[in-house]
Amino acid sequence: MNKKFANVQTELPGPKAKKLLDRRHDVVPQGVGYGVPTFVEKAKGALLQDVDGNHFIDLAGAIGCINVGHSHDTIVSALHDQVDRYIHTGFNVMMYDPYIDFAEKLATLAPGYSKKKVMFLNSGAEAVENAVKIARKYTKRQAVVSFSGGFHGRTLMTMSLTGKVRPFKYEYGPFAPEVYHAPYPYNYRRPESMNEEEYTDYLLEQVESFFISEVDPSQVAAFIMEPVQGESGFIIPSKKFVQGIYEICKQHGILFIADEIQTGFGRTGKYFGMEHYDVEPDLTAISKSMAAGLPISGVIGREEVMDSAKPGELGGTYCGSPLGCRAGLAVLEVMEKENINDRADIIGKKVMERFKNMYDRFDVIGEYRGLGAMCALELVKDRDSKEPAKELTGQVLKEAHKRGVIVLKAGVHDNVVRLLMPLVITDEQLEEALNILEESIEAVLVGVNG
Ligand SMILES: Cc1ncc(COP(=O)(O)O)c(C=O)c1O
Repeated sequence: MNKKFANVQTELPGPKAKKLLDRRHDVVPQGVGYGVPTFVEKAKGALLQDVDGNHFIDLAGAIGCINVGHSHDTIVSALHDQVDRYIHTGFNVMMYDPYIDFAEKLATLAPGYSKKKVMFLNSGAEAVENAVKIARKYTKRQAVVSFSGGFHGRTLMTMSLTGKVRPFKYEYGPFAPEVYHAPYPYNYRRPESMNEEEYTDYLLEQVESFFISEVDPSQVAAFIMEPVQGESGFIIPSKKFVQGIYEICKQHGILFIADEIQTGFGRTGKYFGMEHYDVEPDLTAISKSMAAGLPISGVIGREEVMDSAKPGELGGTYCGSPLGCRAGLAVLEVMEKENINDRADIIGKKVMERFKNMYDRFDVIGEYRGLGAMCALELVKDRDSKEPAKELTGQVLKEAHKRGVIVLKAGVHDNVVRLLMPLVITDEQLEEALNILEESIEAVLVGVNG
């Protein structure tokens, strides 16, 4: 097949990357993982070039941070302009207007009609931590309920909220107290005796018994939910389930926190994934693509809830840095000008068509699923038993990397190939990348069976 964009000429790692990798292993602890054994030289749009001159099509986007593409001109020039003015004064010392501008825009964009307020932080985990802090302060309750399979970060509270043990929690206890996990609908793996509707009803009923066996609802400050579970393999709940949980929250005076860190800013074809379910979260945690790679995050929430914290109780030294706010404003400008949400839908449709063809060709694909451009393939050893094909998934990824496409693994069972490509990827680049992904699955299967 003719390749125009992806071109890996050397083995990975190439000679320069190999030297860097040796130095990395010498000085950086192994606990800090990496997906591809090479080092970037430059990146633009959906393309990456490594230090050895290999070219890659990026279907990972730094795990969903780069929805508007690498080094978009609008973002680069906003950052240059900001660097020339000032870099950091500390919003809690001398304030700056990009923080206000960005907060105003996000408050308007967030789902629902009630007045919102916005605060900024540094990372996704920190946004979740703060959403929980605010929820506790507002409700004067301590318990927080997250969902099995959910991922919320690597700090103590967010690791505690996370519903997957390895590699995130194993041997890192004890965890934060008053955190409970409720079941989340994994439709592909639901009991055979139930259809989707019955399964949803069953899980919602489970919440009622959960309130009897695990925690009284009067003690619960918040439920926290990803609109689509990211790390766990792009698991999409039914609208009925999300609305059901929302209703349960309202009934018991519990706040509903949306973790939009991976789903936000165009990934699902909307600014916020929760827009698909017609619910208005009390609090929303955002990060990743909100600033095209700058380390900034935020909490958006109903005014009354956000204002329950008193002066000085929220914030931090670097929170809402001017560079992050300027990048974020530029992201919103690009999203509007380039219709990024519509583009996500178009990309999603193309990917799902190709996934359907792959599903017809390869029995190892147990399910393909997606919402907007948040698309994934779940690989299994056998379609009947649905036994997860974890090793095979790792091999497919490695093969794709060798052929010049960066893809990521996900899944409770580490058997999902997930795509988080920049949404500015061209049709030609997308087609080439999907061809390579398909070739990679084929090559691994021939290797396995041949
Ligand atoms: C849904 C979700 N929440 C929270 C986080 C944690 O974000 P960070 O790694 O910036 O702390 C992530 C990161 O992947 C995520 O996908």
